[in-house]
Amino acid sequence: MDEQHLLHEVDGNVAIIRINRPKVLNALSLHLMTDLATLMEQYDGDDNIHVILLSGSERAWAAGADIGDMATASSAEMLKRNQFAIWEQIKNIKKPIVAAVSGFALGGGCELMMHCDIIIASENALFGQPEINLGIIPGAGGTQRFTRAVGKATSMDVVLSGRLLSAKEALNFGLISRIVPKEHWFETALMVAKLVASKGPIAICSAKASILNAEELPLSESLVEERKLFYALFDTNDQTEGMIAFAEKRPPNFTGT
Ligand code: CAA
Repeated sequence: MDEQHLLHEVDGNVAIIRINRPKVLNALSLHLMTDLATLMEQYDGDDNIHVILLSGSERAWAAGADIGDMATASSAEMLKRNQFAIWEQIKNIKKPIVAAVSGFALGGGCELMMHCDIIIASENALFGQPEINLGIIPGAGGTQRFTRAVGKATSMDVVLSGRLLSAKEALNFGLISRIVPKEHWFETALMVAKLVASKGPIAICSAKASILNAEELPLSESLVEERKLFYALFDTNDQTEGMIAFAEKRPPNFTGT
């Protein structure tokens, strides 16, 4: 794995991954995406890690797929690359992913952000699906997840015109979770990641899975799935511990069992 375009470290129970291609505003090359999916899967399988924090730089979360990778590709070549299998790997990460977003979150960058679960954005962040300016459309969920997040009217406005949304607009439209002052975008996201990581590891994954079901399943089915996840948690030590700790008026000591 090329360690340069992704920097990563562990802080307590949080794995911090930083996209690191400053010269191209963190453009998401195929190589980077392959390594990112592999790294996320490694942390997803590591019992010590409860939450993944994914970050870009102050100037750019990611300005999209690497245009250089695609500029001369034919339709058949793009199909053969099967790049969306990598996105499927990221979609299947079970642990919560917190996004620390500053600067540009465009195209594939915005799509990657939408694969994350809690999105903390700097007040200077800019969002968009400007693929239309390149003569293409978004291909990693940008017409679908974006529409589900912001609604048809705004999605049409943004995707067809290529215009960018400010952090305030993105918050108002429901694309992101919170805006924070630009001096605190990373530390706030880390704080949020650590807070989530302090909860029961099984429960946070169950909550993530259940909320994501709301995007994909009809309500009657997702309610059945929610109930299954709810009942399953009563077979965990963390449920026993959480409720005993509440009665004893002390913080719970969750073990992820
Ligand atoms: N791919 C490759 N290189 C990129 C890039 C991208 N997506 N975005 C920026 N860069 C490069 C620029 O080419 C430039 O490189 P040079 O210094 O070698 O010229 C460098 O990053 C800095 O960019 P700018 O000089 O353009 O910086 P700016 O501040 O003037 O503009 C910007 C910033 C508005 C983000 C502009 O760079 C831009 O429009 N980038 C492209 C955004 C885009 O179209 N994203 C969608 C990509 S397609 C996609 O993502 C498909 C998909 O759904 C999977």
